[in-house]
Amino acid sequence: MSFPDQLKAAASGVEAFIAATLDRRAELPVVQAMRYAMRGGKGLRGYLALESARLHGIPTAAALPAAASVEALHAYSLIHDDLPAMDDDDLRRGQPTIHVKWDEATAILAGDALQTLAFELLADPALGAADRRIALVASLAKASGAEGMVLGQALDIAAETAPQPLDLAGITRLQAGKTGALICHAATIGPHLAGADPAPLLAYAQALGLAFQIHDDILDVTGDADTTGKRTGKDAGRGKATFVSLLGLEGAQTRAKELISSAEAALTPYGAAAENLVAAARFTISRQA
Ligand code: IPE
Ligand code: IPE
Ligand code: MG
Ligand code: MG
Ligand code: MG
Repeated sequence: MSFPDQLKAAASGVEAFIAATLDRRAELPVVQAMRYAMRGGKGLRGYLALESARLHGIPTAAALPAAASVEALHAYSLIHDDLPAMDDDDLRRGQPTIHVKWDEATAILAGDALQTLAFELLADPALGAADRRIALVASLAKASGAEGMVLGQALDIAAETAPQPLDLAGITRLQAGKTGALICHAATIGPHLAGADPAPLLAYAQALGLAFQIHDDILDVTGDADTTGKRTGKDAGRGKATFVSLLGLEGAQTRAKELISSAEAALTPYGAAAENLVAAARFTISRQA
């Protein structure tokens, strides 16, 4: 199966799992908005979760709640990222954003509820022994909060109005938090569940996560709404600090390629068994959406 087909198959498994979970909740607008927010993403974080599990001998069914969990957390981060107080976006995954389709209160609450759902899913006994599940809870909390995604988002918003543009170290820190932290969590789910050393996959994901966000910044400059499913040209418009604003388009492309070579090198201990993760790394900087 080609990598894009593998990714689609994994994403539909994760989506179906979340849909079944949400079908057991009361039929309120906030639940409809949660369901809506879980549709149509690439599912890369869920894929990394399932593939890192497979690499450690854990079958998909036993890793699915953790894959769904990271996609729920990610969907929450996107809903809030799109709010008027943040990036003020009206298009996401080719559809109107939640605060446009419903209202701001529903968007805030749907994000809140997806965040707590992410932790609820990690409590699922299907994931195995309690100490392993607690390790995942701690990993997700750290990746999402004021040392991870929220830190990156806060730095990103602050940079819009800062008197001095960020330097390379500042942008690297911002992007590692905003996108990298959750990708690191996703790619180390397998070793966490298996009680194995997460170091090689952490090194892989640190490089991959940064390349992923650099490519996101590149698509904001080179892409269009039809292919990316979101508004483009927004970062420059809002005075965002990005690798593209700092290094230029070519410089950013070169940096992303270097990072993907490092990501691949980090997989050496796994040998040929890691070929799907190599494909995921290459996809990260060749994708159009
Ligand atoms: C977009 O993430 C936001 C970033 C962290 C750059 P994705 O590009 O993975 O978005 P979906 O989930 O596929 O919509
Ligand atoms: C958002 O980064 C990252 C998170 C949601 C944590 P961006 O603001 O660059 O994402 P897009 O471009 O809107 O998807
Ligand atoms: Mg943003
Ligand atoms: Mg945004
Ligand atoms: Mg972006």
